Amino acid sequence: MRRKIVAGNWKLNNDINQGLALVKELASQVAEKNPTAEVVVAPSFVNLAGVVSELKNSKIEVAAQNMNENASGAFTGEVSGDMLTAIGVEKVILGHSERRAIYGESDELLAKKTDAALANNLEVIFCIGELLEERKSGSHFEVVAGQIEKGLFHLEASAFDNIVLAYEPVWAIGTGETASPEQAQEMHAHIRKVVDAKYGASVATKLPILYGGSVKPGNAKEIFSKEDVDGGLIGGAALKSEDFMGIVTAFD
Ligand code: 13P
Repeated sequence: MRRKIVAGNWKLNNDINQGLALVKELASQVAEKNPTAEVVVAPSFVNLAGVVSELKNSKIEVAAQNMNENASGAFTGEVSGDMLTAIGVEKVILGHSERRAIYGESDELLAKKTDAALANNLEVIFCIGELLEERKSGSHFEVVAGQIEKGLFHLEASAFDNIVLAYEPVWAIGTGETASPEQAQEMHAHIRKVVDAKYGASVATKLPILYGGSVKPGNAKEIFSKEDVDGGLIGGAALKSEDFMGIVTAFD
């Protein structure tokens, strides 16, 4: 069976006090409920060390929301992969549509960031997804395949042991509009086929593919019931323990 993962992307939310309060509640509920899904939280850089330390006896893992592609140097305001591993962070989200759209991160840059993350033994949650115009014009399958090819297809097959994909249609992020479970399944199956064509079934069948975009406790079960949907990358609903736990336990 493929790994099941529910990751909370806190984006630009939660100061250290709010973040610690949230993970304390999550840690006790995860310990009590022992969910099938692996649970991940992704706080802002400045709160990573505190959250890692708070979660040291918990099964919840911690991801950064971004990192720089360089190991060190004159890059004011940036954070490197080895700085993340040095404080006990094990994962990093790369290629979120907000990084692509607002901060102009290109496929080429994301390929470099992925290399730097893997070189630091960070697991990469690599985000892909089409814009509304792209879905309307019917180019969504091509767009998503292109993002995967340009971001990841320079890698050796073995690198995929440390890659998780997250399909987040941009039109469904923070809008309250989700892809239907059928639309999610259709795209996830396509993604798996694209990976299979390049790396073969052994890589494709074990690759976790998460869905993100307005996942809530009320719709998680149905979306996660689809064969190729292996969990979720959660924004707004990851900020309240009750909502996030409702999604985390949707596989149980
Ligand atoms: P929402 O769950 O708020 O739509 O955000 C999804 C997302 O962008 C997670 O990375």
